[in-house]
Amino acid sequence: METKLDPWGIVHVEDYSKLFEEFGISSFEDILPVLREPHPYMRRKIIFGHRNYDSVLRAMERHEPFAVMSGFMPSGRAHFGHMMVMNEIIWHQKQGADAFAAIADMEAHAVRGISWEKCRTLGINEYILSLIALGFQPKENSHIYFQSENYKMRNLAFELGREANFSEVSAIYGFTGETHISHMESVMAQSADILHPQLKEFGGPKPVVIPVGADQDPHIKLTRDLAYRMRKFLVERRGDYISIRGKLASQELMQEAESALQKRDFGTVKRYEEHIDVTNLCVKEAIGIKDLQEEIEHLIITLETEHGEYGFIPPASIYHRFMTGLTGGKMSSSKPESHIALTEDPKEAGKKIMRAITGGRQSLSEQKKLGGEPEKCSIYEFLVFHLSDDDKELLELDAECRSGRRMCGTCKKDVAERIEIFLREHQQAREAARERLPEFGIKV
Ligand code: TRP
Repeated sequence: METKLDPWGIVHVEDYSKLFEEFGISSFEDILPVLREPHPYMRRKIIFGHRNYDSVLRAMERHEPFAVMSGFMPSGRAHFGHMMVMNEIIWHQKQGADAFAAIADMEAHAVRGISWEKCRTLGINEYILSLIALGFQPKENSHIYFQSENYKMRNLAFELGREANFSEVSAIYGFTGETHISHMESVMAQSADILHPQLKEFGGPKPVVIPVGADQDPHIKLTRDLAYRMRKFLVERRGDYISIRGKLASQELMQEAESALQKRDFGTVKRYEEHIDVTNLCVKEAIGIKDLQEEIEHLIITLETEHGEYGFIPPASIYHRFMTGLTGGKMSSSKPESHIALTEDPKEAGKKIMRAITGGRQSLSEQKKLGGEPEKCSIYEFLVFHLSDDDKELLELDAECRSGRRMCGTCKKDVAERIEIFLREHQQAREAARERLPEFGIKV
């Protein structure tokens, strides 16, 4: 079956490994060993793929500026799936990132027809309170914002619209002659959400990571393309030399790039009509070609921004697996039985767990004989994703289940209890967060 990533439809992701080949998403396996204290989602392979996360890692290691950004469409209740994105934002903020969280009210209004007023209340009550309760910090360069109120982002969205045309965008999103213009605008708004942390008002070009579910990848790919199209130069490695292509640079800008390069000892600089080559690279023991390329890229980006250009770095992304719904299939905001909302009554949540689909067998005797199948169990998934900090405990539970020693009833009761405790605490923290909304610039 064909893998289809569709941010607004039902998602069929049969096999995540296909995403690597078909869409050019890289496996997170190579990143994992480099991280000193990976998030449990990373350790447990829930975050399985990325684009360009190396750029973020490098900044993190060197204590250089970087940012994390993601968004939430206020169209229903926030559930444990959304909480993953929230936790990923907060984790990166703790690692030193400037953090941006968008409440995508323009998208909800344009695509789902939700009124502005409803967007506002859902945005605050479902998403913002939980984000703060989970640990989002008020910091100088961190922002929780409604799209409709962020005019720096909206102006950028308009500007990006000059680089994207109808055929291209319709091919990605399946737009037709009937598609509303506002729907198309909301696509540009999402790209602008992703790129605006790199505006000079927010400290200029920097690596930015977007944690999302794999269904949002079309947005990421488009945005990376748009970022590239806004650039005046392209810095490329060509074997043992580096070439700086003046994609859209004026002769004057080319000349300035040439002299800026000559002032440094990267190698021999030679300017041609539409590109500049740096050959005989000054590679030393501690400085490889990769480092030189990075330094040249940095110099070129600075040159671009000094000339009032954007100098965008293509945004990075990380992708997490979806949680299975409690009723099987995908966890969905529009199917209350399939998910547990973060504002769910704790007792009711426990009941949903007791009714959920597990990896158990048809009968008790069969289960004792064959053992359960935790990989097919929405309850076990809750433990892996959210309700156990302890990897050893999980391994033991897995083994007990497979060997037929642990029955679904026991497991469900245990998880129901944990979820009730979690929700009670989270909901208390949300009430405390309500008092703190002004610290985040949110008017109530
Ligand atoms: N489109 C996303 C959704 O459907 C929400 C969103 C808006 C977003 N802006 C974003 C996600 C920027 C990631 C980055 O939920």
